[in-house]
Amino acid sequence: MKLLYPEHLVIPQEFVSMYWKSRHTDKIINQQEAAEKFNCTDRTIRNWIQYLRDNTIIYRDGLGILHVYGDVVHICDVHAPLHKEKFIDDVCKVDRIKSLIINGDLFNQESFSFFLKKQKDADFEEELGTVETILKRFLEVYDTISIVPGNHDERLSKNTEWVITFEHILAMIGLKDLINKRIFLTSADHLFYNDTFRCVHPHKYRAKPCSLAVALAKRFKENIICAHTHMLGKEKVFLYEKNTDFQGREYENVKAEYTVFDAGGGFDKDKIRYKIENTTTHSEWRNGFIVFRDGKNEIITDEKLLSYTVRVEEKIIW
Ligand SMILES: [Fe+2]
Ligand SMILES: [Fe+2]
Repeated sequence: MKLLYPEHLVIPQEFVSMYWKSRHTDKIINQQEAAEKFNCTDRTIRNWIQYLRDNTIIYRDGLGILHVYGDVVHICDVHAPLHKEKFIDDVCKVDRIKSLIINGDLFNQESFSFFLKKQKDADFEEELGTVETILKRFLEVYDTISIVPGNHDERLSKNTEWVITFEHILAMIGLKDLINKRIFLTSADHLFYNDTFRCVHPHKYRAKPCSLAVALAKRFKENIICAHTHMLGKEKVFLYEKNTDFQGREYENVKAEYTVFDAGGGFDKDKIRYKIENTTTHSEWRNGFIVFRDGKNEIITDEKLLSYTVRVEEKIIW
C-alpha cells in the first residue's frame, strides 16, 4: 500500500486498518498488546489513536484501488447539471468532517449517452462549469475528495476509447494540480472505506431497494455501500451455516453479519427526462447521503420515507 495522504504519516497502515475496523465493531484495541505487536510504547499507541480519530488517511493498493480511513461524508449520483442545489448545500453544511467520498455519477454526460434520445438542456459545456462550481464548493469545506467513477462519468471516455479520461476532464475544469494531492481517483468501480465497507458504483441495476447491495454482500462477504441505484436504505444481512447437533437434528447459526446501504444521491428526478418519460414499477428514487463519524453511520435525507401498502380489491382481467 502506498500512502497518498497525508504525506508525513508515520503510523503503520496495519494499525490504521486495525483501529478503524475496531471502531465499526465497538471492540476496543488492547493498547498493551498493540504496543508489543508494533514494538513501541503504550504512549505511542495512544498518540496514534488520537491522531486517527481526527484525521483522514488515504492509501492506494497494488491494484490502484483507494483505501480511505477516517470520518467521511459519502455522496453519489449527483448527475450534474441535473442535480438538486439543496443537496450540495446540505453536503457543505456537515461540520467537523474533512473527507468526502463521491461514489460515482458526479457528471451526467448526457451528450455522450449511447441512447439516441438526448436531453438538450444538459449539454457538456454547461455541465463542466456546473461540476467546477460544485467541486470548488466541496474543496472549501473538505480537505480531500476521493472519487469512484460512475457509468455516467465514463461516457465521454468510452466514446473516445479512453483517449479522454476522467483526469483529462478534471484538467478541463482547472483541477489537474489537485489530483493525488486533494482529489484522489480509484482505479476500479469501487474503493474501500476503513477496510470495513466496499463503496461501489456497480454497472448492474435492480429495482428493489438494497437488493443489489444484499447480493453483493453475499457474493463478496463484505459490508456494502451501493451507489447507482438512486434508492435509499440500510439493511443487515445474515449468512447462516447449517449444523447438526449430537442427536442428528439440523440447525442453523449465524456465520456472518453484514451492513449494506443503498446510498441515495443528489440528482433531481424532476429534471431527468427518462425518469419522467418512462413508466415503470421501479422503486422510488430518493435523495440522501451518509455521514460516517467515529465508527457510526447516519443517513441524511430531506425527504420523508413513504411506506405504501398496495392492495388489489378487485381483479378484472380483460
Ligand atoms: Fe446514477
Ligand atoms: Fe450510475
